[in-house]
Amino acid sequence: MTAAAYITTPIYYVNDKPHIGHAYTTLACDTLARFWRLQGKDVKFLTGTDEHGQKVEKAAALAGVSPQDFVDTVSQTFRHLIDKMDVTNNDFIRTTEPRHIKAAQALWARLIDSGAIYLGEYAGWYAVRDEAFYAESDLVNGKAPTGAEVEWLVEPSYFFRLSAYQDQLLAYYKANPNFIAPDSRRNEVIRFVEGGLLDLSVSRTSFKWGVPVPGDDKHIMYVWLDALTNYMTALGYPNEEGGDFKTFWPEAIHIVGKDILRFHAVYWPAFLMAAGLPLPRQIFAHGWWTNEGVKISKSLGNTIDPIELVDTFGIDAVRYFLLREVSFGQDGDFSRQALVNRLNSDLANAYGNLVQRVLSFIYKNGNAVVPTPGVFTGEDATFLTLPAQFLAQADIMQVNRYAEGVWVLIAKANQYVDEHKPWGLKKTDPNRMNTVLYVLADFIRQIAILTQPLVPLASAKILDQLAVPEADRLFCALNQKLLSGTKLPEPTGVFPRVQS
Ligand code: MSP
Repeated sequence: MTAAAYITTPIYYVNDKPHIGHAYTTLACDTLARFWRLQGKDVKFLTGTDEHGQKVEKAAALAGVSPQDFVDTVSQTFRHLIDKMDVTNNDFIRTTEPRHIKAAQALWARLIDSGAIYLGEYAGWYAVRDEAFYAESDLVNGKAPTGAEVEWLVEPSYFFRLSAYQDQLLAYYKANPNFIAPDSRRNEVIRFVEGGLLDLSVSRTSFKWGVPVPGDDKHIMYVWLDALTNYMTALGYPNEEGGDFKTFWPEAIHIVGKDILRFHAVYWPAFLMAAGLPLPRQIFAHGWWTNEGVKISKSLGNTIDPIELVDTFGIDAVRYFLLREVSFGQDGDFSRQALVNRLNSDLANAYGNLVQRVLSFIYKNGNAVVPTPGVFTGEDATFLTLPAQFLAQADIMQVNRYAEGVWVLIAKANQYVDEHKPWGLKKTDPNRMNTVLYVLADFIRQIAILTQPLVPLASAKILDQLAVPEADRLFCALNQKLLSGTKLPEPTGVFPRVQS
């Protein structure tokens, strides 16, 4: 049976246009999805937009359009970004879709049935920007800890009995140490839950733009309860017997930014426990990007437009930089100079040059066919096993380490060229020259298979230039060999140098 994998991005708020933070989460997920497909897994990859809430209602009013028109327009900009970045999601969910409203209401009904939701009254400090209530003790200088403005709100509200799940959550984290990653984040969540949980207000009556509470439509559902359900909607929930839900739900990996970890690692599992539903496999929190050392914010006007970056540098370069530059899970700093340096050193010089010099030499001096090797030395044979050995111990959840590891192989290939100097063998030992070129070509084939999740367009181009059939590009094809005598197309450069 084919193994299944389910990966999700957070669904993006539509009150803002896409910026580098959104692009980062999506590209990280895309890289993992591609990696698992190359392992032969059946992968479902979901992204989408989070379209309800007071923020959206207010933004639409400000723009002078209906909330529905507003979300239709902004949601499109997120789809556009995804197309632009060649993202391989197989579904795009919008929380205003009927399938989602049905799912959110079904989950609500289950929480009512299990007694986990009750009607009460809410009074507290509410920050519209964060869509969250804060306790008096959370406030910093009269504002939310995030800096958002707060207002005092009293309203009838349904509550979720979060306080009843403290022990169960802690026991779950303990029994499933990989449920929250990385470890540092897991410890933060555990400390938070150990500190005690209050019941959570899960409905609103003060505005209208949301999923109506079944049977009491003066209330709309709290936007996070609505939003989190998206991950199940896309698998056909409330149909739990459907193949997709059964196959993919227990495999779910939610990739989220550190700012929204609490919603995913505390509230979400508690909702699911209360509803008697299985929990996702993992919640992985990544860090935040700053821009040239400064926190990114709309008010500072220093947001980074991913579309402009892709137009300037190309998608492979942007994704390589974002994934390689920081440890997955840690914060990172974006700087244009760092991006240019990395593209020139890693992509153009190390990888691009290797491919270009080997393939052009074969094209010009080897009749434009895959060379026929003589006998491999022990060193040749060992060298050719390095990519598979690397892959066997690689962990794609440490995606920057994966990139580092592949680039170590690229450095080894460049070293092999320098040591064995195929061009110098042309006159003295053409047989050995063919062997060396064959070894290099086959090594490049393997590297290009490994780089597919990181730089998909360039990798495809390199594999085309080696005439590797589409069907032979999965990881299981690493151990195959290039077929001597196969006609090769004229090579063209894959990574242009960038002006700094
Ligand atoms: N709508 C909620 C998520 C609901 S999921 C059920 C939301 N949306 S968001 O648009 O505000 O943020 C989406 C993601 O972008 C979050 O994971 C957040 O961490 C990420 N980022 C926003 N700014 C970021 C950086 N500066 N750097 C990295 N990621 C950041 O939250």
